[in-house]
Amino acid sequence: MNMMNAINAIAIITVITAAGMKKMRVRGMGGARVRGVRVARPFALLLICGGLFLLALSLVSCGGGAAEQSPGADAGQAGQTEKAGQAEQAPGSGAASADGAGSADGSGPLDGADGGLIVVGFSQVGAESDWRVANTKSMKAALSEANGFKLILTDAQQKQENQLAAIREFIAQKVDYIVLAPVTEQGWDETLKEAKAADIPVILVDRMIQTSDDSLYTCWVGSDFRKEGETAVAWIKEAFSGKDRLVIVHLQGSLGSSAQIGRTEGLDAGLGANAAWELAVRESADFTQVRGKEVMDRILKQFGRIDVVYCENDNMAFGAMDAMDEARRSYGVHGETAIVSFDATRKGLEATLAGKINYNIECNPLHGPRVAQIIRQLENGAVPGKLAYVDETAFDAATITQGEIDARDY
Ligand code: AHR
Repeated sequence: MNMMNAINAIAIITVITAAGMKKMRVRGMGGARVRGVRVARPFALLLICGGLFLLALSLVSCGGGAAEQSPGADAGQAGQTEKAGQAEQAPGSGAASADGAGSADGSGPLDGADGGLIVVGFSQVGAESDWRVANTKSMKAALSEANGFKLILTDAQQKQENQLAAIREFIAQKVDYIVLAPVTEQGWDETLKEAKAADIPVILVDRMIQTSDDSLYTCWVGSDFRKEGETAVAWIKEAFSGKDRLVIVHLQGSLGSSAQIGRTEGLDAGLGANAAWELAVRESADFTQVRGKEVMDRILKQFGRIDVVYCENDNMAFGAMDAMDEARRSYGVHGETAIVSFDATRKGLEATLAGKINYNIECNPLHGPRVAQIIRQLENGAVPGKLAYVDETAFDAATITQGEIDARDY
């Protein structure tokens, strides 16, 4: 029996008892009757009034009691309690910094008007590399329900048509935000115009798009791929200074992607500026280890001397090393061919520490908290910067430490 039922029962018993008392005393009157009536009537009236008050109180409260008993109402109540809890937490967690953004790591619940979840449709490129897997993990962790988001994640399997279809589906679903990691730079305008017409902000992550209308996306966060390429070229220049001939093999990422374009531009600038550098061959291996091996298998059959293999990500470098192992060609710090790679994932750094990769340029995949932060800003009416480049570094086999690998999150 809960509190309201108890009050209800007490009220009813009190009223009945008081009424009974009054009757009894009135019935047995006589000489004593006057005294009895004089003494008992106010007491009985008091009991009746008190009982009626308790009865009224219990009736007023009985709506809650009834809802509790209904499974549906129970569920509704539980939901409301949870939402109220979220709304209460939000201002505090609103870890809301001065600029209206949430906590720096993107954690903590959001303060949606009704405490509801913010629906985010994320079109991911695929799962072609360790970097990409780490990126997906970061997005899932930051855009979690515990943090106030409902994430709809789609894997495009490295096909732009799948991303275009996913965006249209997000629009049909009326999501609150669209997050796009574009597989390629070209060909987005028409679909993003539809998102704009539906008034859904589009946040670009990792790679960029080429468009004549910047208003088709709200903002972008990702890597400076050209700078990554330039960092690699600066190392090659230093490591091979004084050589009168440098034969370079270039394994490219997915053609048309920002990561490929920027890293290739960096190398092209190096080739243009260094007369001794010679591009033996360049071919795309789509950022995957399997393709990296396939392509390198063929290249090794064609070329004897290779001084540098410039691999546009770690997984293609692993594939190239697999091919070189099979072909019994030496590589790395103590080999005939230097390996330059991008991403600096944990496995990539382990290969660097082992001296298999000579130089590894970081590409940071931990965009989840950054995207969550951007959404917080937008939710709070702040305007995030249009373009945000993440800080990145590079690792040389000659100086990398185990501590740097241990500190790696991915
Ligand atoms: O766009 C980032 C690149 O895409 C990473 O270098 C690569 O590993 C990924 O697939």
